[in-house]
Amino acid sequence: MNIEIWQGDITRLAVDAIVNAANSSLLGGGGVDGAIHRAAGPELVAHCRTLGGCPTGEARLTPGFRLPARHVIHTVGPVWRGGNHGEPDLLAACYRNSLALAEAHGLASIAFPAISCGIYGYPLEQAAVIAIGELRRLRQSGSSLEKAVLVAFSRDMAVLYERLLSGESPAS
Ligand code: AR6
Repeated sequence: MNIEIWQGDITRLAVDAIVNAANSSLLGGGGVDGAIHRAAGPELVAHCRTLGGCPTGEARLTPGFRLPARHVIHTVGPVWRGGNHGEPDLLAACYRNSLALAEAHGLASIAFPAISCGIYGYPLEQAAVIAIGELRRLRQSGSSLEKAVLVAFSRDMAVLYERLLSGESPAS
């Protein structure tokens, strides 16, 4: 599995699945969630209404409707509350469960936003270390997925992913 970094709006990517940083209602919100619902059209929230929500750390798959991506994998990241409330395990579970769902549906490509790094306040570098760690773990164990894209919305996030992915140790 290749791990790539791409800077821009995730709703433009024609991959098998884009991941949504949702909330547990799955009924939409701000940030990347709002952008995905706007681009997918009202069919997405109508479909999500049938799912009955999603607990933090888990993931649910829907069609992509009007998006160039075929599917949306909705996952609910943890709200940052200082780091001692299970946030790292929950964030890792978001990546693992989203990847497992993509594999279970035979998907070849998936793109992730920086889950929890906006409204939910997760420190960017700590989140990026977890994201890359989970992708590397899957790459090592072998995956039917061919490509995983880490989408950075800002230049700063792209630089951070590049530094961590190239193996440099994180700045203290
Ligand atoms: N494409 C790619 N990345 C984006 C985009 C986009 N179009 N828009 C924002 N980002 P956030 P969270 C980045 O706040 O922290 C919603 O209201 C953004 O810069 O979208 O998990 C939900 O309903 C940041 O790096 O998600 C929840 O209530 C990253 O995506 C809550 O926000 C995640 O920021 C979830 O908060």
